[in-house]
Amino acid sequence: MPETIPLAIVGCGGMGHRHMYGLAELKRAGLSPFTLVGACDPDAGNANTLADEAADLLGQRPVVAGSLEALAVATDVAAIDLTTTPRYHHTVAVEAFERGWHVMSEKPLGLTARACALMVRSAAQHGKVLSTAENYRRDPINRLGKALLDAGVIGDPRLMLHHTMGGADGMLISVWRHQKDGSGVLLDVGVHFADILEFYLGPAATVFAQTRLHEKTRRNPNAGKQATKGGGIYERWQKDMPAEFAATADDAGYSTMLFESGAVVSYIEDHASRGEGMWKRAIFGSRGSMDLPGDRSGRRLTVHLPGQEAQNGASLLDLVPEFRLDDATAALFGGDRLFDYSFEFTETDRKLIAVEYADFGLAIQGQSGRPEVDGVQGARSVAIAYAWMESQVAGRAVTVDEVLNDQTNAYQAEINDSLGL
Ligand SMILES: NC(=O)c1ccc[n+]([C@@H]2O[C@H](COP(=O)([O-])OP(=O)(O)OC[C@H]3O[C@@H](n4cnc5c(N)ncnc54)[C@H](O)[C@@H]3O)[C@@H](O)[C@H]2O)c1
Repeated sequence: MPETIPLAIVGCGGMGHRHMYGLAELKRAGLSPFTLVGACDPDAGNANTLADEAADLLGQRPVVAGSLEALAVATDVAAIDLTTTPRYHHTVAVEAFERGWHVMSEKPLGLTARACALMVRSAAQHGKVLSTAENYRRDPINRLGKALLDAGVIGDPRLMLHHTMGGADGMLISVWRHQKDGSGVLLDVGVHFADILEFYLGPAATVFAQTRLHEKTRRNPNAGKQATKGGGIYERWQKDMPAEFAATADDAGYSTMLFESGAVVSYIEDHASRGEGMWKRAIFGSRGSMDLPGDRSGRRLTVHLPGQEAQNGASLLDLVPEFRLDDATAALFGGDRLFDYSFEFTETDRKLIAVEYADFGLAIQGQSGRPEVDGVQGARSVAIAYAWMESQVAGRAVTVDEVLNDQTNAYQAEINDSLGL
């Protein structure tokens, strides 16, 4: 038996639990290089439920600790999976690197561009792996879409639309997702989409955006209600959150973006819209276009080429004969050449998290060189998300580089202040 990597989950809320389910999924597939040795959270209740469930799913109860210091005293650790609220990502990551541990951090990598830079610098200083747990690009349908794009099936990309609308005044999962110094929805969700844009089109260069805080009061329909069976993992915490609260972070962004390739993106991310909801992601190229489904839905993408029937089935695979999913994704999703899949959301979710863990493990073991979404790529997504808001404040187009390098940071200033950065 090769030695496994002792890992602790730090942050045992919703995503900490979901990550543990992902680790169990990877173990069931016989592909886990990790042993879960620790569950770390100052909220002992959260750490204990994670540890109890891990005992059932992984066959060993991790130690419970309230801090990294207590964790280090209690057990040997080589890597942490960082699933705290975003406000603590940089402090926990830097402490972990100083302790000689590798880090896989949930997105957004850090709460500001400055916080991200600290994490990237510390990882490099200590020679440790910093991976960003970005799940959307790992969806097999996005892998197929990217293979089709790279094969030139729709020609050179000219325009990408990413338009998502909905939400009205409802709380998105938790209060902190609406607070500027907690994360804010355009950061929390926007980093996923920023990563997807760069996954498909390469580096983003310039952003012009208008952002708004439309809904200044958000409502939590689950306040005071007992969690229902099958109601989702977050209900147990939502019942104790307020029924109504003030939102401080912008909740809608409308942007035109220029990519280094010359491709243009029309971007709308509106978490406050009422009326018709919208999902539209499509890439228009010099030969045709590709319509992409919602991430983690398992639905098919569709290729439109002039004079031909729209294609969304097995014939897509004929266009990319070399296309193969990586070993972990293929094992978890049941095939290395997929054009759709059908699992309950919770199962898809844990499979994609399992893929993140597999990638992190290979990077630690030195087999892949670096994780697919490293610290720099994670920091780029944060910079793009803030570029929307910085463009609004500056009243002009901003470059992603000036935000990434922390030269333009007026929107982030009060967040940096609150973090003491
Ligand atoms: N990739 C995805 O699809 C996805 C989905 C949901 C959340 N997330 C990300 O996961 C992270 C956590 O989100 P969540 O929904 O689980 O939040 P949550 O509020 O449910 O849980 C956060 C947990 O972190 C703990 N915590 C806070 N400070 C800590 C510290 N210093 N050390 C240890 N634990 C600490 C809290 O006590 C809480 O248990 C966020 O970065 C979020 O953006 C990603």
